[in-house]
Amino acid sequence: MSGVMLMTVIQPAGRPGTMGGMDIRRALPADLPTVFGIYAREAREGHATFDHEPRPMELWEDKLAADDHFLVAEHEGAVVGYATSSPFRPKPAYRHTRETTVYVAPGQQGRGVGRALYDDLLTRLVGDGVHLVVAAVALPNPGSLALHRACGFEEVGVMREVGRKHDRWIDVVFLQKVLG
Ligand SMILES: CC(C)(COP(=O)(O)OP(=O)(O)OC[C@H]1O[C@@H](n2cnc3c(N)ncnc32)[C@H](O)[C@@H]1OP(=O)(O)O)[C@@H](O)C(=O)NCCC(=O)NCCS
Repeated sequence: MSGVMLMTVIQPAGRPGTMGGMDIRRALPADLPTVFGIYAREAREGHATFDHEPRPMELWEDKLAADDHFLVAEHEGAVVGYATSSPFRPKPAYRHTRETTVYVAPGQQGRGVGRALYDDLLTRLVGDGVHLVVAAVALPNPGSLALHRACGFEEVGVMREVGRKHDRWIDVVFLQKVLG
């Protein structure tokens, strides 16, 4: 995959409440504690991930070392969100498909951070010749569904009650986007 350093600078607000002056860049080791914290909160309190506990720091370090398009959004010197890709499934015929995910810090949601991260991530995936991207969204999650639809993903099916967290069954909708 491309080793070219890419950085997107998001210009000031296009719509009211949208965060301006935000950088989207590759994640660095110094970003991992913030990424760890964003994910840990969702693992413990939310249902966007089916983990119950924070992901160990070693796994984040492995992800940084892997070719997983690990991006962060930085605003005024602070990491406010991240996005990554991962292999969809391990068997070789799936090698042109990647699964994508994105997390924005709670206080920063709804201000264009997720969209900026995903736009950059999808551009990089196209550049790397990825054919298809897949996302799995645990319901309800209107923000994530809106983000994926806005980025051109289409829904391909719902798995009913495939997860259980916080004492309730959780449906997961799968979405996909053909990149070319
Ligand atoms: C889902 C998530 C990544 C979205 O990121 P965000 O920065 O809040 O979203 P943005 O502000 O970039 O909005 C993206 C689009 O979704 C829409 N949107 C965002 N939140 C919304 C909501 N709660 N309801 C309806 N639409 C919403 C925006 O209007 C925007 O649409 P547009 O580009 O057509 O104007 C973020 O809310 C989050 O991290 N949630 C917790 C973790 C999570 O669910 N991650 C996804 C795992 S699949």
